[in-house]
Amino acid sequence: MPADTTAINKLMDRFNDHSSVWLFGYGSLIFKVGFPFVERRPAYIMNWSRRFWQGSYDHRGTLDAPGRVVTLIPQAGAACEGIAYLITPDILEQIDFREKNGYLRLCTEIAFEDGTVAEGLVYIATEENTAFLGPATELDIARQIAASVGPSGPNKDYLTGLAEALRELGKEDQHVFEIERHLMSMQDKVELVI
Ligand code: BEZ
Repeated sequence: MPADTTAINKLMDRFNDHSSVWLFGYGSLIFKVGFPFVERRPAYIMNWSRRFWQGSYDHRGTLDAPGRVVTLIPQAGAACEGIAYLITPDILEQIDFREKNGYLRLCTEIAFEDGTVAEGLVYIATEENTAFLGPATELDIARQIAASVGPSGPNKDYLTGLAEALRELGKEDQHVFEIERHLMSMQDKVELVI
């Protein structure tokens, strides 16, 4: 059973007395916001790569058939592109609840396209969490995503939502786009058979 990280995240109170805090989004936070924010800006964080290596038992899959969602994996020199949201710290409780399936708040430096940087937060699911699935080929990840559905909807909608949002931002992510290509070719084959 995946561990609930809400209690641990509550202890990370670094920004509680700030009037606002920057939150870096690299997954569902890019295409499914669902919380109020003061401002949002394209941004990136260094030395992390986005990977579909986290199991989703509560949103895009089930306990018996977990889906796959993104987390960040340390990689020296890599830049992970996403969107930073300026929020009031009370919003963090909502996000802790929504992402309680293994994600922990981490302090990070967030870089903006105008060259400025700010200290903020990012949620990361590390390999220590029980829902972590780890690496697989992009083809196998696409197969698992194609077969998974959870309370928040089909896992493939998460993948295509993320890929489209990255394209709209004008950002490349070979891992995400390769999984999307595999998924599309699987769908094309199904249509040919029908
Ligand atoms: C994000 O989109 O940045 C995000 C992904 C997983 C958990 C929390 C946030």
